[in-house]
This record gives sequence, C-alpha cells and structure tokens, in this order.
Amino acid sequence: MYQGPPQSNETLHEAQRLSSNTTADRPSDSHDVSVQRFVAPLSWKTVSDQRFLCPQRSKDEVMTRCGQREPISFEQALAKMEATVGRKIGEGVYGEVFLCAKPNDTQSVLKLIPIEGNLLINGEKQKTFEEILSEIIISSELSDLRQQNVQFSTDGFVELRSVSCVVGKYPQRLLELWKDYNDRQGSENDSPEDFPADQLYIAFETAFGGSDLDGYRFYNAQQAFATFTQIVLALAVAEKRYDFEHRDLHTGNILIETTKVPERTYCLLGEEIVIKTHGLKATIIDYTLSRIVYSGLCLFNDLSTDEELFTAEGDYQFEIYRNMKTVLQNRWDQHAPRTNVYWLHYLLDKLTSVRNFRDKTSKAHKAGMKAMKQLSDALLQFTSVHDIVRTFFASDVLEADKEN
Ligand SMILES: Nc1ncnc2c1ncn2[C@@H]1O[C@H](COP(=O)(O)OP(=O)(O)OP(=O)(O)O)[C@@H](O)[C@H]1O
Ligand SMILES: [Mg+2]
Repeated sequence: MYQGPPQSNETLHEAQRLSSNTTADRPSDSHDVSVQRFVAPLSWKTVSDQRFLCPQRSKDEVMTRCGQREPISFEQALAKMEATVGRKIGEGVYGEVFLCAKPNDTQSVLKLIPIEGNLLINGEKQKTFEEILSEIIISSELSDLRQQNVQFSTDGFVELRSVSCVVGKYPQRLLELWKDYNDRQGSENDSPEDFPADQLYIAFETAFGGSDLDGYRFYNAQQAFATFTQIVLALAVAEKRYDFEHRDLHTGNILIETTKVPERTYCLLGEEIVIKTHGLKATIIDYTLSRIVYSGLCLFNDLSTDEELFTAEGDYQFEIYRNMKTVLQNRWDQHAPRTNVYWLHYLLDKLTSVRNFRDKTSKAHKAGMKAMKQLSDALLQFTSVHDIVRTFFASDVLEADKEN
C-alpha cells in the first residue's frame, strides 16, 4: 500500500495554464462547465511561484457538498446514512474502512478520514479541508459517470452514496471493530482511540465493491483478462471525459466481486462498447493521488516535493511512481495519460502471475494468458488508454474478433 506523502498538496489549479502545455490530445472541452459549479467564491493563491484558483473557503465548499452547515456527530452521520456498522474491512494510510448494514438487506462502506487536526496519523499530517475537497469532487464526478449519458458512461468507479463531515471522539463500537481487525489480521495503522472530542473527519459512504485484488485467486486467466478489460474501459472513459489519471492503481485499489450479469456497457465518445464479464465485476477506488480537470480547473496532488514515494524498491508498483514522475517531468498538474498506461502494464504483470489461478489447464485459461501476455508486450508503445481501446477494444475490433 502506498505510504502517503508527508505534505501532499492537492490544489485547484488554473486551467488556462494547463491547456497551453500538456501532452494530451485535448478533447473539445464541450463537456466542461463553468467555475460556477463551485459554491464558495474563488480567489487566486500562490504556491511554489504558481498561481492557483481555489475556493476562498474550502470548508464552505466541503460543507455544501455534505449538505451540512456544521459538522455532525457520529450518531447523526450514521442515522443520515441509515447504517449500522458491522466490521472493519480495510485500511489505508489516511482512512479506516468499515462495512455497514442498511435497510432492505443492502450494504454500504464507510471510509473515515480524520482532517484538520494536529495529531499525526500513521506518521502523516492530517489532510486539510482543501486537500480533502479534491477527493470529494473526484469521487463524486467519477461515481456520476454511471448515470446514463450518450457521450461518456461507466459504472466502473465506486458509487459514492453520501459524504458527511463528522466531529467527535472515535465511537467505542468502532474502536472495538478496529481492535477485532487488529487481532484477526493485524493493522499497520495507529489505533484511533487518541483522537480528541473536537476531531473532524470526512465520512465517505460508498457501495460495497467486493474484495480487493491483493491476493485474489481467479478461476482462470479468462476471468483475469475480463477484469483487466473492465479496468481499461472505465479508465478510458474517465481519461477522455476528465483528462483523468488515477496515479495509484495498485492491486489494493481495485475491487472484485462475482456477478450474474453477463455483460458490461461503456460509452466512450458516443460509442457504445459492450464486453462480457465472465462472472466478475471490477471496481476502481481511492483517488488520493488522482488528477482530473473539473469545471475548467485542475485537481491534482502535488507530489513534486515528496521524497519517500519515489525511493521504495521491491515491487514493480514502486517503479511506476518513478515512471510517472519522469513522464510528468515532476509537474503533477500536467496531463500525461501515459501514467494510466503504466498502471495497466503493472496490472498485467500482477494478473499474469501464475499463482492467481485455480484452473491452469483449460483452453480458456491458456487463451486468456496468451492474450494478456501479448497485450503486455505491446502496451508501453501507447501514450493513452484511449489509444489502447481504439486498437484492441473498440466495438468494431471486438466484433471482428468474434467473427474470426
Ligand atoms: N467500497 C469498498 N468496498 C470494499 N472494500 C473497500 C471499499 N473501499 C475501500 N475498501 C477496502 O479498504 C482498503 C482501503 O481503502 P482506500 O484504498 O480507499 O483507502 P486509502 O486510505 O485511500 O488508501 P491508500 O493508503 O491506498 O491511499 C481498500 O484497499 C479495500 O480493501
Ligand atoms: Mg488505497
């Protein structure tokens, strides 16, 4: 898991500066709307000699997006979600993640991120309202791509159900669940018991997306390839719609669940692409490092002064951070969709690892494996996921494949 930067600086950035100097073939921007989509007034701010356009008070913007005037208690937040917390299911550097039961046998996931306080969490500074605002906007925009739209649509990004701003000590029930998880599988995080009564948190409520790809065992490589294809198409839609780069698509940030739905549909620049699920549904999560252009402003996480992230060794994942830094020339506002391609290459590396499969002898397995290896050999020639889709996954290519 990525150990976050000590002083990451997510910023709303002037769009004009971007459009003058990017590596993207830029879309027509017909989908761009105006900066009036921010509720708080915008003002200029200078960071590292660059001018940024930011909401004057990120707190106001966050509160509006939470539908609140002031932070609410844990009790009120859970009542608003109609949720009962069941167990802790995951953790990140910044967040603790719990599975919740809802009425009508549904489930939600609650990700709690402490903000604005002085207490270090897992050795890191807490995020500010300004930093968390980027994650709220990105999560909400990507989730909304599931709405029917003839130009761009995908349900490949986790569904965001609500966002709340909470204040208070960590509730006893959640501390118990935290301890259960620690006893069961061990936690890399500090216990949340020390948070004071005036501690603020952002609570993201999302749909449950299954288990993450870390250590996931597929039935065969056909299933792994189906998972990969779903990730490729979701990324391509967001890349074209928002100049999106995920920038941290390691196996902990991809969720898998079984599905009876046989097909998944994507709309990419008005073209409908339908693929087979082979019984699995993949979902992308975690936009801590992601970048989008939203309402003509760029939201990104400035990693230019981060030292730790680029020195780690021991897994291909850590090479990807260095590759991204090189292709972006350490300017994290820039758009280089090749960063998405690097993560896809990393994913193919993980997905083709033989220990993932229960059935390694069938024809379907061998065909899936061959397809992934061929793709892996070709992938790094491409500069964007959209190019990959045009070459390998566009509907006319898929149709031609079926005929052959
Ligand atoms: N919607 C969900 N459904 C199922 N599991 C989830 C969901 N959201 C998060 N998780 C689990 O919790 C873990 C941590 O969540 P997430 O990656 O969002 O946290 P993070 O703090 O942003 O992590 P990072 O340290 O990578 O920045 C995931 O790897 C996954 O196992
Ligand atoms: Mg994560």
